[in-house]
Amino acid sequence: MKTRILAVFISVTLSLLAAPAALNAQTQPSSDPEIRSRADALLQQMTVEEKAGQLNQESGMIIKGLAEQKPDDDIREGRVGSILWLSEVSEINRLQRIAVDQSRLHIPLLVGFDVIHGYRTIFPVPLAMASSWDPAVEEQAQRVAAEDARAAGIQWTFAPMLDIARDARWGRIVEGAGEDPYLGAAMARAQVRGFQGRSWGNTSILACAKHFAGYGAAEGGRDYDSSYIPQVLLRNVYLEPFHAAVKQGAATLMSAYMDLNDVPASGNRWLLHDVLRQEWGFQGFVVSDAIAVGNLVTHGFAHDREDAAYRAVSAGLNMDMASKTFIENLPKLVATGRITQSQLDDAVRPILEAKIRLGLFEHPYVDETRAEAVLTRQSSRDLERRLAGRSMVLLRNENHILPLSKSVKKIAVIGPLADSADEMEGGWTVEGLFGGESRGHPVSLVAGIRNKLGTGAQIEVVSGARLQRKYPSLLDQFNGTKSPPPATEAELNDSRDQAVAAASRADVVVAAMGEATNMSGEGASRASFTLPGDQQHTLEAIAATGKPIVLVLMSGRPLDMVWVSEHVPAILEAWYPGTEGGNAVADVLFGDVNPGGKLPVSWARVAGQEPIYYNHNLTHDPEDAPDFTSHYWDLSTKPLYPFGYGLSYSSFKFSNLRLSKNRFATGTGTEVSLDVTNTSQSAGDAVAQLYIHQRAGSASRPVRQLKGFRRVTLKPGEIQTLTFPLGLDELSFWSPQTKTWGAEPGMFDVWAGEDSTSSLHAVFELTAN
Ligand code: NOJ
Repeated sequence: MKTRILAVFISVTLSLLAAPAALNAQTQPSSDPEIRSRADALLQQMTVEEKAGQLNQESGMIIKGLAEQKPDDDIREGRVGSILWLSEVSEINRLQRIAVDQSRLHIPLLVGFDVIHGYRTIFPVPLAMASSWDPAVEEQAQRVAAEDARAAGIQWTFAPMLDIARDARWGRIVEGAGEDPYLGAAMARAQVRGFQGRSWGNTSILACAKHFAGYGAAEGGRDYDSSYIPQVLLRNVYLEPFHAAVKQGAATLMSAYMDLNDVPASGNRWLLHDVLRQEWGFQGFVVSDAIAVGNLVTHGFAHDREDAAYRAVSAGLNMDMASKTFIENLPKLVATGRITQSQLDDAVRPILEAKIRLGLFEHPYVDETRAEAVLTRQSSRDLERRLAGRSMVLLRNENHILPLSKSVKKIAVIGPLADSADEMEGGWTVEGLFGGESRGHPVSLVAGIRNKLGTGAQIEVVSGARLQRKYPSLLDQFNGTKSPPPATEAELNDSRDQAVAAASRADVVVAAMGEATNMSGEGASRASFTLPGDQQHTLEAIAATGKPIVLVLMSGRPLDMVWVSEHVPAILEAWYPGTEGGNAVADVLFGDVNPGGKLPVSWARVAGQEPIYYNHNLTHDPEDAPDFTSHYWDLSTKPLYPFGYGLSYSSFKFSNLRLSKNRFATGTGTEVSLDVTNTSQSAGDAVAQLYIHQRAGSASRPVRQLKGFRRVTLKPGEIQTLTFPLGLDELSFWSPQTKTWGAEPGMFDVWAGEDSTSSLHAVFELTAN
């Protein structure tokens, strides 16, 4: 297992080388005077080197060129405060024993790991969980992830990823909640609650809001590339989920890799000090992304590693992930007076406070006999299956082809993702994927369909196409096995012929296509959104048989569905649905679960439309105007499917939009209500969405902004009245003219309905007093 994890790390490393609402002081990581005085008492006993040690996070694995020997000696000498990339419970305990029993001050290690969407039981990828439009999905999933991780000796996750992504070429869009700051903030709060628990206890792990900030705006969607984001956009869009996470009490943040307006985020004092600490009152600590402190030199920002350490600490960064720049240089910097003792203490204190608050001094070890039982709980898998069902988005369902009948006799399941259990879980599955025998055994789509239909149906499975990966699959990388060589033309034709033959014999075809998991995620940008390999060709060939086809799409981003949306009657976006994925997809295909997920991103027609997002500003001559409009010669500027879109097997009516007050003063608020009716014969979920637009003010405002949403289950014929508050929080924005947050008097539009294009409309006026 170690060699596999080593490979993960090497691959990551190689790629690396390439609204001011009032603070809720109670939820801040540490404002407890008793904890502070314990931390201060420790600080008084520590040498400069031991303090630098607390700021040093080392790899738990032996990495050539980074840590060529086990960190034992460094831990013993107090030169390590935290460990990452370690998932063996016994090894965690062994290293912890060195820290607690053999280091001079007995300070326990903080063990961090990328528990992004589950630990052993892998939940749907974050973009999928955001598609649920149900924060409870995120909270429940991350609660289980926290319980599992803590039982396995991990006390800190590098999640949630809160980067707004308006450009799906950026592969890490799969790790976040999509394009919208309001939805992103709701998902951020839910994840912090899930990881840390409603109050910190022995199943809490520290959350780490990342990547602070602006990482998702990488130029051209190229991962790690520079971001240029004016303050107005940072404040109103990119920082919002982070602010929400901080207000929710997120214990830590991770600084991003890239240059933000020419200043690398890991050395950016405006970001880490002025905004995060001074304005938001953050009292936790900030860790760099992996080797990002050392890379301040690579950026052409710091002169050398000593300067990099100086700039990072001066900017407000606390912990150096894996580059050893702090441990090697901070003692020197303190000796020469460039970094003062009190600066050093300020950097160390929140780390000690977190360890105290987690109870690590009292309970540093994990019970090795208990871990496996926690990690293999059937209840976690049952929950995973349920949440995955809530996360899928039905994009098209012509003539109600879905749900399929369970009495179908012959079904062909075609596509490279049909029988690929390893591709069900998505990118961050380190323990799930590499836990050897103990891994979670994900359920493939075919297995899920077999489980659903039993022996009553004849199921023919054909790959029919190749993904033609440029890079080996993750499993091949970790196992050191070779990916199959690219298929020859003859092999592809043969495979396609088999698919066509199977489709011709079948009553219904389920096509399982999309991207391999490593085509999205870190370092996995794409310049086109076509179905990789020859999948499109095969899809067209099986569509020509005239058989009813359902496309189950698995992808980390919206793909080019222009042709598909005209020729394939049903499309279900399953994203990467997790360990129980195959069962969860089968639940939806055969009607045991009625899909209710909605898109957290605008679904571009082609990559050339990116960046594309619903909450853009009007131009001086909008697309619908008659003359010189903002448009492409060759394509609509509209997405194929709008933000917030998603179908259900039920149908709903949204009506009777009304406000408790249509005219009200700044500082007060109104309530917006609407009725949602299930107009169909089946129970189902609707997501009511509320959007506003300010008609004029000190700055141009987006055409629409999401300001409320609620997912509800309605019985056939049931009507529910939903009410949303609109007050200062919802109406405020950061004005580039006044350079402050505030709500400005004026006229507003409000829409409510089932997606960002809904036409149910009302108007209200905000008055000065
Ligand atoms: C690099 C990634 O950018 C970050 O998201 C992750 O948490 C760290 N590596 C640690 O694995």
